[in-house]
Amino acid sequence: MFDYDGEMRFLQGRFRGAWGVRDGDRVLDVGCGGGQTTREAAADAGRGHVVGVDVSERMLEHARRRTAEERISYLLADAATYDFGEGSFDVCISRFGVMFFDDPVGAFANLRRALRPGGRLVAMVWQARAENEWAQAIPATIGGDAAARDDSPFSLGDPDVARGILTSAGFGEVTFAAVRERLYYGPDVETAYENLLQLREPLALLAGLSPADAERARADLRAMLAAHDRGDGILFDSAAWIITAK
Ligand SMILES: C[S@@+](CC[C@H](N)C(=O)[O-])C[C@H]1O[C@@H](n2cnc3c(N)ncnc32)[C@H](O)[C@@H]1O
Repeated sequence: MFDYDGEMRFLQGRFRGAWGVRDGDRVLDVGCGGGQTTREAAADAGRGHVVGVDVSERMLEHARRRTAEERISYLLADAATYDFGEGSFDVCISRFGVMFFDDPVGAFANLRRALRPGGRLVAMVWQARAENEWAQAIPATIGGDAAARDDSPFSLGDPDVARGILTSAGFGEVTFAAVRERLYYGPDVETAYENLLQLREPLALLAGLSPADAERARADLRAMLAAHDRGDGILFDSAAWIITAK
């Protein structure tokens, strides 16, 4: 899931194969994070241009540090409301960046306005929590207050819900392709443990525990990660959708 610099590098082959970015395309990468997809989209877009947008200046700093291409620009903005200009892009891509909108219909309508007529959205999102081993194992190991669980990553996991949101936002031809892949947390337990503690949900769950329970939970997390050591890293089953819409 991560490398030491916090970049996710799983599931990327399937996503890149699905986005269909072509020479000359103008591409918007929503929630671009460290910019891995932004850079790969720029390579596919040839003489085109890619804008990576993110609400996190820290993530954009990572992205800028790794980016030399002039045909990429990064923008610190909320993609849900930012005025990108009507019809400014041919393709809008997002790897796990479009599940966190407070007003999803309004946000996707904003992204649709940013696309030219006939332009398309290609987004990778998590399937439901129940389909994702990592998303069950971590809170089950920590325990704690169920109210501290963060379900936002799974907000588009139900295809009927996601289709309803996208249709209400003005998109059509909505399709879902299932992707199941092993999710890589790190080469060893310690690295995986550090990576896990970058995630919002385990931090929130741990923060709600007494010091003694938190210590017990941290030991349990290490043991749970060790049980997922498959020899070539700490790996969990995962399930995502690649959603395309026009
Ligand atoms: C799970 S990370 C994925 C990062 C990157 N796409 C990747 O695959 O490596 C989600 C990213 O979406 C960004 N994000 C969440 N809501 C956003 C919004 N409304 N506008 C722009 N970026 C957003 C977060 O700051 C975060 O960097």
